[in-house]
Amino acid sequence: MSELSFTVSRIKAETPRVRSLVLEAKGDAPLPQWSAGAHIRVKLPGGGDRPYSLVDLPECRAGRHYALGTLLEERSAGGSRYIHSLKEGDAVSATGPVNQFALADDEDPVLLLAGGIGITPVFSMAAALARAGRDFRLHYLGRANGELAFLPELETICGERLVVHYDDTPPGRPDFAALIGALAAGGDAYVCGPSGMIEAVKTLWALAGRPPQKLHFELFTATPAPAAGDKAFEVEVKSTGQVVTVGPDQSIIDALEAAGMDVVCDCRRGDCGICQTAVLEGMPEHRDVVLTDEEKASNKVMQICVSRAKTPRLVLDL
Ligand code: FES
Repeated sequence: MSELSFTVSRIKAETPRVRSLVLEAKGDAPLPQWSAGAHIRVKLPGGGDRPYSLVDLPECRAGRHYALGTLLEERSAGGSRYIHSLKEGDAVSATGPVNQFALADDEDPVLLLAGGIGITPVFSMAAALARAGRDFRLHYLGRANGELAFLPELETICGERLVVHYDDTPPGRPDFAALIGALAAGGDAYVCGPSGMIEAVKTLWALAGRPPQKLHFELFTATPAPAAGDKAFEVEVKSTGQVVTVGPDQSIIDALEAAGMDVVCDCRRGDCGICQTAVLEGMPEHRDVVLTDEEKASNKVMQICVSRAKTPRLVLDL
């Protein structure tokens, strides 16, 4: 995938912890086209990159700009700290866009659910659905009034189809079961937010007897946090016999890459499914949102970007 070069043309504080950035293409060529739910991977100065969803702000329609919304994470591993250090005029490079969270190509009614900064892909979905005259509703959840980014733009796009929920304001979080129940039969739901929200919606969606292929989700955690008590463990690479130690604050992918292996992955947060790997021995501790409960219980596959081990060693089919 070719690298794209930008200049930061506008920065705006959307909330105390969220800023939006508009990136202008360097050179004369138009930027690659994208659809709602797509992301680019912004290169970090120290190596590596981070995915950021594209936000469909009006200034991006002429094909010369991409817009991002980023949360300054308390525990940033570099991505959000870098983005929040940028100034207008700075150079930025990225690859993409790629879309693993696209709207289904149909006319079915849509329920959009966004938690916090998970609004970024959902913003673009709402804009696309509104432009197409589609039947949709957006429920946008935040901790407190003043902490939801892009609210004025969303009110313009969605009108009465936007419902905002604040944790600190009664009635607080929405009743997800009721929202699913209110969605017309055959409708699709798109969810982007923290893992607890996605797991709750997944469970209630299944309880409601809705088809799993009509629920679409993307996890919003740019940097999966280690849990208290995480310990080192070993991973044996079946094809070579190489044994790699995974440190308490490392992912399996980090450890394999540090040992010189190339590993196929994308989101690095447990929701895209790309790094799924067969487990030949040992028991994984699942921390993704992409495997089904049955797949997790089988312990035969795992997402090696976030999941860890319950046993001292895992033998992986790599
Ligand atoms: S890289 Fe996306 S689930 Fe692991």
